[in-house]
Amino acid sequence: MSKHQPSGVLQWLSLFLLMSLFGVSRGDVGTAARYSPPYLPTACFGNNPAQFPSSNLFGAAGEGIWDNGASCGRQYLVRCLSAAVHTTCKPEETIQIRIVDRAATSVSRPSRNDATIVLSTTAFSTIANVSADFINIEFSQV
Ligand SMILES: *[C@@H]1O[C@H](CO)[C@@H](O)[C@H](O)[C@H]1NC(C)=O
Repeated sequence: MSKHQPSGVLQWLSLFLLMSLFGVSRGDVGTAARYSPPYLPTACFGNNPAQFPSSNLFGAAGEGIWDNGASCGRQYLVRCLSAAVHTTCKPEETIQIRIVDRAATSVSRPSRNDATIVLSTTAFSTIANVSADFINIEFSQV
């Protein structure tokens, strides 16, 4: 019995490595808060109303991904992983959002200040119950 345990561990390790290599999950893990209108002006594109995608799926970059403004216009895939209330996430939903603002200076303040990404109300409510103000997310740049 104990003779077989090391190879069992190795099998799990190889499976884990293969899954990481072949993209079962490619994203980074972070957190998301939400913010509400008014969304203008933004740190990225000022008062230009054309900066918002027609889907209304957009967000403000936390300091970790703000990248000194280089994140403006970047697109991210985001999905909800977990939250304090376990029914908060809509696990089957993934959204693609566009960064239009900097969370640290957004006109309308985020529901939490330390989030990786702050999502528009539409974006947040697409992947989670909007009565939550903070969720754990997986995200990857498109
Ligand atoms: C969203 O969360 C609130 C508070 O936990 C709950 O009362 C409500 O039923 C939830 N809505 C949905 C659609 O799950």
